[in-house]
Amino acid sequence: MTRVSRRGLTRRTFIGASLATGIGLGIGIPLFRDLGGSSSTGNQLRSELPLPQLFTQPFRVPPVLEPSRTDADADYYDITQTAATASILPGVKTTIWGYNGIFPGPTINSRRARTSVVTHTNNLPVPTVVHLHGGRTPHDSDGYPIDYVFPTDRSYLNEYLHLSHGVGMGDSATGDTSEGRRSYHYPLDQRAAMLWYHDHRMDFTGPSVWRGLAGMHFVRDEEEDALRLPSGARELPIMITDRSFNSDGSLSYPSIDGSLVGKAGVTSAFVPGVLGDVMLVNGTPWPRARVDGAVYRLRVLNACNARRLDVRFDPQPEGAITQIGTDGGLLAAPLSHEHFELAPAQRADLLVDFSSFRPGTSVTLLNDFGDGNMSQVMRFVVGDAVGDAFKTPDVLSTIDTLNPARAAVTRTFRFESGDVEHMKGWLIDGKPFSPDDITAAPKLGTVEVWRLVADFHHPIHLHLNPFQVLSRGIGGPGAFDAGWKDTIDLRPAEEAAIAVRFDGYAGKYVFHCHNLEHEDMAMMANFSTHH
Ligand code: C2O
Ligand code: CU
Repeated sequence: MTRVSRRGLTRRTFIGASLATGIGLGIGIPLFRDLGGSSSTGNQLRSELPLPQLFTQPFRVPPVLEPSRTDADADYYDITQTAATASILPGVKTTIWGYNGIFPGPTINSRRARTSVVTHTNNLPVPTVVHLHGGRTPHDSDGYPIDYVFPTDRSYLNEYLHLSHGVGMGDSATGDTSEGRRSYHYPLDQRAAMLWYHDHRMDFTGPSVWRGLAGMHFVRDEEEDALRLPSGARELPIMITDRSFNSDGSLSYPSIDGSLVGKAGVTSAFVPGVLGDVMLVNGTPWPRARVDGAVYRLRVLNACNARRLDVRFDPQPEGAITQIGTDGGLLAAPLSHEHFELAPAQRADLLVDFSSFRPGTSVTLLNDFGDGNMSQVMRFVVGDAVGDAFKTPDVLSTIDTLNPARAAVTRTFRFESGDVEHMKGWLIDGKPFSPDDITAAPKLGTVEVWRLVADFHHPIHLHLNPFQVLSRGIGGPGAFDAGWKDTIDLRPAEEAAIAVRFDGYAGKYVFHCHNLEHEDMAMMANFSTHH
């Protein structure tokens, strides 16, 4: 495997990208003189509390949500969105917004092509929207950014009366939304993969996710079962988020209006993105996990608002990191990496062999894109070898390669900073998000090539359908681009091309930057699929 420069772009790709796109590095730079390090576009917010010792808190896995009922057609789940008190830093109480009052929310496990119906009740003081990230979902259950679930408590009504119910949604904003409740229908007719669900309200996704509205949702299938991958206690979900805390223990976030109903956006220093100074894994700061001397399957999700991660193990296990899957499920064949880069919203399905260490060895998961404490993620303490006979299969799945020569349309989108209502913000092709503008109208059943051009780091995500990365600059796909992706990590002054096969459902969907501050400050647009 070719090793990609730790700091992102190699000089050669960088120059290639600049020449190919004609972007000068000068554009926009004066706005963002102190970008917290070169590896993420964002600024770090300092906590006002003493931070815990690293690797002292036990690693936790969020509870799995059992269906409330199940019938021939579907499994039915109930989730209540509510404020709750959590103990994230030891001895400190923190108010969070959580799915069922916990952060991360409960994990849902679904089978491919078996419908899951998730009914959300909104007991929060603001409207919410739930999006299943990576789900191939009909438009009316996709969590369109203004398809609100209003609070159950009607006394908040005056504050959000200005939000017209389901603007631009036609008939789709129906159902029992007005009761503070909504059922999302997920057919999940898609490959096994790690999905995640999170808030997606227009203009307020960043602060809502930061407060805790995020959880994991796995899709399983027979193809994956047949591989007999490590499972049960040997399969660990690893949701990584960075957060900062105020002196009173509350989560710190630089909203212009902390009520999250008035003016959207963050204070000017944080327009590039909000980076925390506490690394959480499944909601625990720098945890420590005990593992057997065996092969583990780690399902890693970068759920940070803006922080990019570059993970590796120290000491390095035998065979380093074996990647078996990505955002959209299994790769065709395993890939070996010494380290792995993840932009916000990206997932990696990794195998790690802890039997290569002597019992008692401490193995640290590092983040080479972070400094100081933020260069550390968690620690594994290896127990006895258990005589695990697991061998990584040579063939994992079949991926049909999309042929760009057959593309029905090629489109180009520019992701750049600019003014949004006289403030600094983020634009696609010079325009801020509007629910009424349709930027692309792909025909279902066709393949399109999208050329994506960035000024700074922009992790670009498409709803509905996954894609394949065709190129970066004048080169091919990067080391972490294999398989079906739903989010591509665009680096400064980079241009990439992706191939997308649009299929599944007709309707209006969004694509956007998954740096959540960029998304809230308007770097989002609509595509509308049709037959
Ligand atoms: Cu994970 Cu539209 O987002
Ligand atoms: Cu962005």
